[in-house]
Amino acid sequence: MTTFKTSNYEIIKKALVNRDLKQALYDEGKVIMEGVLLTLHGEEHHQRRKLEHKVFQRDFFKYYEHELFPKTLNETISPFLRKGSADLLDFGYRITMNLTADFAGIDRFKKTPEETENLLTLVKIFSQGATLVHSKRPHDEVNMEVTEALEVFEEKFLIPSKNRRLKILKQFNENILNENDLPRDVLTVLLRNVDGINLDDDLIKREIAFYLQAGSHSTANSMVHALHEIFEWMEKHSEDKEKIYNDPIFLQRCVHESMRLHPASPVAWRKPTCPLELDKEIKMNQGDLLIMDLHNANRDKEIFGNDAEEFNPYRELDPNQSIWGLTFGIGLHLCFGRDLDGGLIADEKTKPEKHQYGIVTLLVRKLFENKVRLDPDNKPLKDMNTERPNWGNYPVLFGEKK
Ligand code: HEM
Repeated sequence: MTTFKTSNYEIIKKALVNRDLKQALYDEGKVIMEGVLLTLHGEEHHQRRKLEHKVFQRDFFKYYEHELFPKTLNETISPFLRKGSADLLDFGYRITMNLTADFAGIDRFKKTPEETENLLTLVKIFSQGATLVHSKRPHDEVNMEVTEALEVFEEKFLIPSKNRRLKILKQFNENILNENDLPRDVLTVLLRNVDGINLDDDLIKREIAFYLQAGSHSTANSMVHALHEIFEWMEKHSEDKEKIYNDPIFLQRCVHESMRLHPASPVAWRKPTCPLELDKEIKMNQGDLLIMDLHNANRDKEIFGNDAEEFNPYRELDPNQSIWGLTFGIGLHLCFGRDLDGGLIADEKTKPEKHQYGIVTLLVRKLFENKVRLDPDNKPLKDMNTERPNWGNYPVLFGEKK
């Protein structure tokens, strides 16, 4: 087996749309990832993606961002504001867990802090299981925790959420309810299974657990990276402070620039299903591995200019290139949450009050509305449990300096 590595932006783009390359990053994380959308290939992937895509439509994202999410955001941030401080990772996980639970289809019946805490604990374990390949902890230990967490999740959250949806679907099938009365989430779509694809209970359990962790982990980290980059920018460019507080389109541009510098997964892995040549130096056979370095590709000077390593919200790009680089992937496994989290790209016709900013910008905006600032007595620390370059905790204070 030969391992090929590349950080060439154009080669990676070619690889991500190549149908003869299949997902390989999650082979280690099987306990949670086996058979879930992100690991599927070919026809099976196409069918599952088509079915689940019904949930991830632009009109719904806009509705969610403008109508549903602000309430959840206010409820989640309130206790932190009352306290005057937060660990941003903690806040980020709480808010994004609610977000992904809404999309995955997991009800929080009791709506108590303990219930949120319990789901959060499970989701964090799922995250560690999914990204096992980068974990510095003993893999057996993590796998055991994931197996136990899946059982608790099934009993406490999945079965009650499933039962409620099955009841609704029964009423729908009896014409008591109509299409608009159905919950808009992945679990409902899977239980309804209009395309009649092959799904069993265990697979549904892993799929929903995968959704809970995929969206929350990446969104929470993305928010913290963005805030950190913006703090640093404000330090050096005090002339932009006003825009950061009052110009949400500029703020969104900052978030997109940070997304480019900090892709949630710094690498993508693929294996060929047949011999193939991606480039004159990358001639692969079945069983070989291709490791694509998204982190460095997103800093490619040819694409993003000589200051590609730097955070620069004024960066000008060839309009054919993506503002966030390869952060949401492209091609076959393009992220379902891209427009939800990243929003739409603004142009000269954009009306700020109607624009879809994306959840990450909304979160950062809310933090600035509440005068977020670094805690001078508690420095942010890197996450030492993973090779991924994430923050482990990020203490902040709210309100003006006294
Ligand atoms: C900043 C936030 C996010 C980032 C950076 C991100 C990044 C990615 C990337 C890079 C992939 C493709 C992986 C590959 O090609 O191997 C992906 C796939 C996916 N993402 Fe996201 N994601 C984010 C948020 C979300 C959210 C909020 C959801 C759902 C609520 C979500 C759902 C998915 C799903 C379902 C896939 C699999 C698609 C498929 O395999 O066909 N993501 N994401």
